[in-house]
Formats: sequence, structure tokens, C-alpha cells
Amino acid sequence: TLSTEEIEKRIWEIKKEFGSRLFIPGHHYQKDEVIQFADCTGDSLQLAQAAAENKEAEHIVFCGVHFMAETADMLTGDDQYVYLPDMRAGCSMADMANIKQTERAWERLTALYGDTIIPLTYVNSTAAIKAFVGRHGGASVTSSNAKEIVKWALEQKKRILFLPDQHLGRNTAFDLGIPLEEMAVWNPISEKLEGPSEPARILLWKGHCSVHEKFTEKNIAHIRKTKPDMTIIVHPECTHEVVQLADLAGSTKYIIDQISAAAAGTKWAVGTEMNLVNRLISLNPDKEIVSLNPYMCPCLTMNRIDLPHLLWSLEALAEGKGVNRIIVEKEDAKQAVLALNRMLSI
Ligand code: 13P
Ligand code: SF4
Repeated sequence: TLSTEEIEKRIWEIKKEFGSRLFIPGHHYQKDEVIQFADCTGDSLQLAQAAAENKEAEHIVFCGVHFMAETADMLTGDDQYVYLPDMRAGCSMADMANIKQTERAWERLTALYGDTIIPLTYVNSTAAIKAFVGRHGGASVTSSNAKEIVKWALEQKKRILFLPDQHLGRNTAFDLGIPLEEMAVWNPISEKLEGPSEPARILLWKGHCSVHEKFTEKNIAHIRKTKPDMTIIVHPECTHEVVQLADLAGSTKYIIDQISAAAAGTKWAVGTEMNLVNRLISLNPDKEIVSLNPYMCPCLTMNRIDLPHLLWSLEALAEGKGVNRIIVEKEDAKQAVLALNRMLSI
């Protein structure tokens, strides 16, 4: 087995050998050991845009999770190949909505509400769900453009079915002035709408991020009591209660921008994935930064991409045989791209 130094040296060699024929995007939640090799880092929106704009790279080794690699595959040309260094790098939230459940939900909800619903899907969803949304006139959203897209959707139809993250959907609609009483939750297991009221305008899919649900009201109360001068900043995948109690909420890019631009000596409690919190701590030694949940919250699937997997993926390319190529089936891709392009153009 190779030492860390040997692995790093070999990755630099392969990157040099391929030059601009190889592109490595890295999501903000990736480990530092991986991020050091990223040609571009970003939140989900930035990475989707980077993929759409990159016409040059023949090989895209995606350091993120499966749905991000699918998105990159759909937004790049037929002669560009996307790989995921570890196929187990999925997203538990994306897995909470499958296409059969979604079609059944649509059947039931349109029977109830007629042609008054437009579907939206968080990019954290499979290509099949994006295709469903594209096919029905809807768009994808990311945490940094959710407000604009939900606003657009409400100009198209009276109601929205928001997949698969109930929290991002609820937080965004609430920000736009829609009261909680006008939101209901679609439970894909019982196939029922759960309160609080009917008829609802915002139909939230009952999915969540298991990482962001770990930031609680109790964590906030603790910070307010022990460090009253700390600014609490969280990701909108956190629950509505947590987002309301926090001082600021936004995508990973927003969190990074806010903290980087803040004055020296400012204090921050951050409610998002552990690798990003640790990176913020090391990049901002002049500020006091802690995780909102003191136990730190790793995204275990993101963390599956590590140095050995990255090298394995690159070494295969160097040998002329890509591994773990991500290919979205043509028909799904055609319709999913409708949802993605609507998002990118709004
Ligand atoms: P953003 O980087 O778009 O904020 O997404 C966060 C996330 O959970 C990605 O899976
Ligand atoms: Fe999915 Fe949450 Fe991990 Fe993001 S942090 S990839 S939403 S499980």
C-alpha cells in the first residue's frame, strides 16, 4: 500500500499528464485531502454551472455525491465522461423519493387538486425524479436559488409539489410569505397528506437530510446561553424551527461568503456538514468558529470519496479505462435537462 505522500504525488502526476483534458469538481463538503486536487469547488449550483460551461474536459472525476455526478453527465457533451470515485457516495435524502412513489403521489394529488400543481425538485434527487419534474413543466432548485425558483413556480401554478426535502421547501416558501397553515406534507409511505390544513398551496415531500436534522433547537439554546455574542448561521436543510431561531441561513456558498467577509474577532456557530465547518475554522484563524452541534455532523456518504478512491479513479484513466462512469439513460436525461435548464435560466 502507498503512503499518503505517495498517493498525493501520483495524483499530481496524473493531473499534470492529463492537463485540461481532466476536470475535478469538488463539493464544499468534501474532505481537505480531496479538495486540494479540485479544479473548482462550489455549492451544488456552482458545480452544475461549472459542468455546463466546461466544454473542454474529456474526463470529469466528480468529487461529490451520485446525484451531482448525474447532473454533470446530463449537462456535459456526449464526448465528455463523468466518473464518481466511489459508487457508494450517494445522498440519503435523494434516496427518499423514488420515481414510482412520485408518480403515485402525482396521481393522487392531481386527482385532488386538478391541474393546479407544478412540481419542483431540489437538485438532491435522482435523474429519474428530475426527468419527472421536467416532463411536467417544473424545474430543479438548489439551496442558493430556491427562493427565485419557488417564486417563479407560483407564477405558473397555484400549487407546488416540492421534492424531496421538506425543510428546504418549507423554509423557502415561508421566506416568501406563505404561512405554515398553507403547507402540507406528502407522506410517500402512507400516501397521505399530513396537516396542518387543506387545501394546501405548498405540498412538501416528506424527505430530509440526516446530517442537517442533527442541528436542534436545544443546540441553539445552548449557544445563546453560553456564547450570546455568537452569530448562528445554518443551512436551509435544517428544520424550520432551527432556521427561525438562527440569525442567518443559506447555502454552503452563502455560509462561506458570510464568514469570510466578517470582521476579525467575530464569533460563529455553524449548522452544516463537518468538513466545511472544519475548513472554515482553519481558513479563518482570526475568528472563533464552532459547529452548532458540538459532536460535529459528517455526511458519511460524501466522506466515502477519499484519497485512495480518487487515486484509483485517476489511475484507471491513466491506464485508458475509466471506472465508475456515470451515465444517465437518454430518455431520462432529455427530460431532466429541461428541469435543469429551466433552473439555470431563471
Ligand atoms: P449546497 O452546497 O448547494 O448548499 O448543498 C448542500 C448539500 O447538502 C449538498 O448535498
Ligand atoms: Fe445528502 Fe445531506 Fe449528505 Fe447533502 S449533506 S449529500 S443532502 S445526506
